[in-house]
Amino acid sequence: MPDELARTLLSEQQIRVRVADMAAEIDADYAGRDLLLIGVLKGAVMLTADLARALEHTNVEMDWTSVSSYGSGSTTSGVVRMLKEPDSDIAGRHVLLVEDTTDSGLTLAWLLENLRARGAASVEICTLLRKPELALVEVAVRYVGFDIPPEFVVGYGLDYAQRYRTLPYIAVLAPHVYATS
Ligand code: IMP
Ligand code: MG
Repeated sequence: MPDELARTLLSEQQIRVRVADMAAEIDADYAGRDLLLIGVLKGAVMLTADLARALEHTNVEMDWTSVSSYGSGSTTSGVVRMLKEPDSDIAGRHVLLVEDTTDSGLTLAWLLENLRARGAASVEICTLLRKPELALVEVAVRYVGFDIPPEFVVGYGLDYAQRYRTLPYIAVLAPHVYATS
């Protein structure tokens, strides 16, 4: 493991099992309906792709949005900006917003509002990770992969300054990495 990483938090196997469980839940909830998955770039790429392939009884389309709420550092700015609009017309669609992690909840709260305003038939949220101790606003998240401690993590899509996204597991970033930057 690179020395910028302190320890493994979630193994590849743990992630695989939990994602399969979430997919089964989503499949049951949306069975027979058309579902639009909207992944939040870039962090949710892995989760969105894995969920999409695991959904067997639901007609799934994939779309993407991108927002900026973080710089290259590790603390929230609270300011959300949409950098990429979803390509799809969302009006009347059942949307499942797929996010990598929610800390303060500000990003998801903003996205939820934004997609609802476009006239979606329903908008639910799936997040791989959630850090309950950092929540500043309450967001109703339908599917949560793991509740984790308030540490900065990387891997399975999550980055630190664009690095470590491609790790198949999730690791805690060593505090010395962001303490000095
Ligand atoms: P929030 O608006 O405070 O909930 O921040 C959520 C966003 O910050 C997520 O979409 C992530 O992109 C980013 N983020 C929060 N925590 C982490 C982390 O531990 N590792 C990598 N990115 C994170
Ligand atoms: Mg993100």
